[in-house]
Amino acid sequence: MTGKREDNMKKSYYITTPIYYPSDKLHIGHTYTTVAADAMARFKKITGYDVFFLTGTDEHGQKIEQKAAEKGKTPKEYVDGIVEEIKDLWKLMNINYDHFIRTTDTYHEESVKKIFRKLYDKGDIYKSHYEGWYCTPCEAFWTETQLADGKCPDCGREVHQAKEEAYFFRMSQYADRLIKHIEEHPEFIQPESRKNEMINNFLKPGLQDLCVSRTTFDWGIPVEFDKGHVVYVWIDALSNYITALGYLNERPQLMERYWPADVHLIGKDILRFHTIYWPIMLMALDLPLPKQIFGHGWILLKGGKMSKSKGNVIDPVELSKKYGVDALRYFVLREMTFGADGVYNEDALIGRINSDLANDLGNLFSRSAAMVEKYFEGTLPEGRVHDPLDDEIISLAKATPKIVEDHMNKLEFSSALSVLWKLISRANKYIDETTPWVLGKDPEKRERLSSVLNNLLETLRYVCVMLEPFMPETAEKIHSRLAIPDEFLSWDSLGSWGANPFDQKLVKGENLFPRIELKDREDEKPAKKNTNKIKDSKIEAPVQNKSPEAEAITIDDFAKIKLKVAEITNCEKHPDADRLLVLTVKIGDETRQIVSGIAGYYSTEEMVGRKVIVVTNLKRTKLRGVESQGMILAAADGKDLSLVTIDKNLPSGTEVR
Ligand code: ME8
Ligand code: MG
Repeated sequence: MTGKREDNMKKSYYITTPIYYPSDKLHIGHTYTTVAADAMARFKKITGYDVFFLTGTDEHGQKIEQKAAEKGKTPKEYVDGIVEEIKDLWKLMNINYDHFIRTTDTYHEESVKKIFRKLYDKGDIYKSHYEGWYCTPCEAFWTETQLADGKCPDCGREVHQAKEEAYFFRMSQYADRLIKHIEEHPEFIQPESRKNEMINNFLKPGLQDLCVSRTTFDWGIPVEFDKGHVVYVWIDALSNYITALGYLNERPQLMERYWPADVHLIGKDILRFHTIYWPIMLMALDLPLPKQIFGHGWILLKGGKMSKSKGNVIDPVELSKKYGVDALRYFVLREMTFGADGVYNEDALIGRINSDLANDLGNLFSRSAAMVEKYFEGTLPEGRVHDPLDDEIISLAKATPKIVEDHMNKLEFSSALSVLWKLISRANKYIDETTPWVLGKDPEKRERLSSVLNNLLETLRYVCVMLEPFMPETAEKIHSRLAIPDEFLSWDSLGSWGANPFDQKLVKGENLFPRIELKDREDEKPAKKNTNKIKDSKIEAPVQNKSPEAEAITIDDFAKIKLKVAEITNCEKHPDADRLLVLTVKIGDETRQIVSGIAGYYSTEEMVGRKVIVVTNLKRTKLRGVESQGMILAAADGKDLSLVTIDKNLPSGTEVR
C-alpha cells in the first residue's frame, strides 16, 4: 500500500453546529442541534467515514459586551465562565466533538484579520459610511423601508438612528452566481421549502452591500489597518467553519482533508446568514461552497419559541438528571421531525420513556438476557435448530441497517429511529411466538431453545450497533452486558447475520430504563377523564355475565381460553390514563406486562404480591400506548370491582380450569 494513514483513505465527512452565544445558559433548543449533529457524526464514524465534527462559541459583539458590563466583568472573564458550562453540558450529553472553537481563540482572531484584509485588498470590501436604523440586539442596520412598523424586522424590537463610518462588502456582485448555484444544487439548502424563501425574499429583490465593521463598541476582532473598527460579528462567526480547519492560521492544516463541509446544521433563524452571506464570503475567498446547509425547525413551548430573552427555557441539565441523558437524546431525535417545528412537553417525554424505552427496548433486553441466564447460566450453546418462525425476524434484522442508513443520510433521525423500533417490536413478538418458556420445560427442546435465544441476542446486537449514534450509553450497556467483542460492534459486521457466536458469558446488570410515573397535572385532567371513559370501557368489566342458553358454549370453546394463576411483582400507574394500572406479573417462569382498568379500585402498593387469574392467550395489544399481554380477571358491578383470586396458596403458573 501507499503507507498513508488509514484516515486518509476513508471518505471525509465534515459536520458543524452553529457556534453558540455564551450570553446565558444553553437550553434544550441548542441541545437539539448539537445532539443531532453528534448522532450524525457518530453514525458517519461507524459507517467508515473520516469525520470532523465542529462546535463552539461565538463570543464577540455588543450584546456580550453589555452583559459582561452588567455583571461587572470584562467580556473575556464573563464568557470564560459560560464557555466552561457549555463544555460541561456537552460532556454530560455525550457530545463527541472533534474540536471546540472559541472565536476568542488567537488562531481564529488571526485568521479573521487576514480574511478581512484579503477581501479588502481584492476590492470586495470598501470603506464608506452608514446612515440608518440600528437594532442593537441584532447588531444590524436597516433602511427605512426594511423596518416593520418602525421596528426591527428580525426581532420586532426598538431601533435607533445611527451614523457610522463603516466598511461594506459588495454582496450584490455575487448574487447572480449564488442564485445559479442554489438552483443547480437542489441539496444545497434543505429542507427544500427554505430554499424558495431565500431566493424569493432575499436574493431576487436584490442584495444590498453588507455593513461589515462597527465603531460603536470594542468587543470584537479589530480591523488591523483601521484601528477604530471591529469586524462585524457575523463575518467573524461564520469564518469559524474554516479557521478551525487551519485556514490562514497555524492550526493543523485540515482544509484539504475536510473542506467543503458536508453539512452545516443550523436553526432556521440563521438561515439567511448561512445561505447568503457565508456562500458569498466563500466565493470572494475563492473557496468551494459547503455541500449542504440544513435549517431545522424550532422547539416551541405552548407559548411560542423558547428563548433566553423570554426566560421560558427548558434546562437540559435538569432534564438529564431527572430522566437520563440517553432518554433526552432519544426524545429530541424521535419526537421532532428534523426540519419542522415541534412543541416540547414533558408528558410526551415521559410517554416515550415508558413506552419506547422501558417497555419496548428495556423489556426485550431484560427478557432475553434473563432467559439466557435462567436456562443456560448465561452462556449460550450454539443454536442449530432453524424453524420457519425465525425467517421474518432474521430478514427484518438484515434489512434494517440499510434502511436506517438511507434515513440518516437525509438527516431523518425520527424515521431512522422508528425503523429501528420496528425491529425491536418484531423481536418482542418473536418471543411470544416461539414461547421459550415452554421450550425451557422440555429437555429435548434445549437446542431449539438455544436457537431462539441466539436469534434474540443477535437481534439485540444489531439493535445495539444501530443504536449507538443515538444513545451511546445504552448501546454500551447492552454490549457490555451481552459481552459482545468489539469486532462484532462495527456497522460492517451487520453484513453477516449470526457472526457473533455468543459463547461469552452474559454479565449481570440492571434494567436499562426504569419506568417513570407521570405526575398528575390538574390542568389536563378533565380532558383526560373523558377520553379514558370511552377507551377504557372495553377492559372495565373483564368478566361479562350475559350468557343466556342460546349463547351456550361447548367445553372445547372454553378450553380455548387459557387461564393461569399469576403473581403480581410490580405495579405502576399508567403514564397516560388515570384508570389504568401497568402490572408486571409472574406466570410460572414467564414475566409479562399487563395493563388493567382497575386503578380506581386498587392502589399500586396493595397490588404487589397478590395472586390473580390471568387470561394468558389474549392477543398482545397496546392500551393508550402501553403494551399489554393478557387480561386480569375481576368481578365488577359498575359500582365496585373485585379481583378474582385463589383461596389456597398455589404457585403462579398453575392452570385454571
Ligand atoms: O445564532 N429550537 O447563536 P445562538 C431549536 N451565534 N433550536 C434552537 C432554539 C429552539 N428553540 N433556540 C436556539 C447564534 N436554537 C449565532 C450562530 S453560527 C456561525 C453563529 C439553536 O446561541 C438553533 O440552531 O443564538 C439556532 O440557530 C442556534 O441555536 C443559535 O444559537
Ligand atoms: Mg439566536
